[in-house]
Amino acid sequence: MIVTTSELFKIAYGKFAVGAYNINNMEQAIGLFEGHKKAQAPFIIQLSKGARKYAGVKMLENIIRAVDEIYQDAIFAVHLDHGDEQTCYDCIDSGFYSSVMIDASHEQLAGNIATTRRIVDKAHAKGLSVEAELGKLGGVEEDIKVDEKHASLTDPEEAKEFVERSGCDSLAVAVGTSHGAYKFSGGQGLHFDRIAAIQKLLPGYPMVMHGSSSVPVEEVERVNAAGGKLSSAAKGVDVNEFARAVPLGVTKVNIDTDGRLVWTRVHREYFRDQPENFDFRPPGKVFMAAYADFILHKSEKLLSKDRLEEVRKALQ
Ligand code: G3H
Ligand code: 13P
Ligand code: ZN
Repeated sequence: MIVTTSELFKIAYGKFAVGAYNINNMEQAIGLFEGHKKAQAPFIIQLSKGARKYAGVKMLENIIRAVDEIYQDAIFAVHLDHGDEQTCYDCIDSGFYSSVMIDASHEQLAGNIATTRRIVDKAHAKGLSVEAELGKLGGVEEDIKVDEKHASLTDPEEAKEFVERSGCDSLAVAVGTSHGAYKFSGGQGLHFDRIAAIQKLLPGYPMVMHGSSSVPVEEVERVNAAGGKLSSAAKGVDVNEFARAVPLGVTKVNIDTDGRLVWTRVHREYFRDQPENFDFRPPGKVFMAAYADFILHKSEKLLSKDRLEEVRKALQ
């Protein structure tokens, strides 16, 4: 069942974080729904501009309609990840999405507020909620690369002003994470003091943490043992830190890179071990099962495991 993102946030705030996962194909969609069935957890499906271009909008939306029909107990929202202004309008008009993200974080404060306000007005008129971003995360997203010296944490006072003036419903904050497989080259983890300072000025307001993959060392080592060449500098967020971030208002946690690592590990290992094979369906099956287990594990760490009935009751 597709629900609104704000309904999920109202139920989750302070208690658990809703995992938000990007999908690009059928295998990810099935693994995602199987995993959340095992976990009995609500979740958010995210579609990036890249995914919409890769699979095609119609294909992606119909994959989601199909899994929604097959997994009738699932409760989830559909969200545009890192949208530009035009893509936000396309998604708002399509009637399919629960929420959109307008990523104008590269603009100056006034420009970011003005762009976000335009999207908010259009989205709210159609019942969608809007995620915006303030501050600069490091790493690579879509085609923009921000190196660490240009990344900057979200300023709490600015966040309060931004939310009040733009009217956005949730805010992606820069609190130490970055996109991709290479995070924290300085060795630091999440900036809990910064998350707490933002919550103090915006009590009850949902914060979103992008770049939240954990890039497990063992996963990177398995990819490399099967022919990959990922750098040993690959590093991510400690999954045990999510439980500390939740009471501080982190309500949505974005994870994409880790799922790609599962895909790469499964397929590299499969074809390394069975070089005579070329049928992609056997490793596809292994991937879907592995991805479901991966989702179960993430749900435990996000505290969203076994919340489905609570969410279902709250939605009635
Ligand atoms: O933050 C971006 C997400 O990981 C989506 O990545 O734009 O390559 O689909 P993508
Ligand atoms: P990761 O690259 O850490 O998985 O982050 C994904 C993300 O933020 C999608 O918006
Ligand atoms: Zn992101």
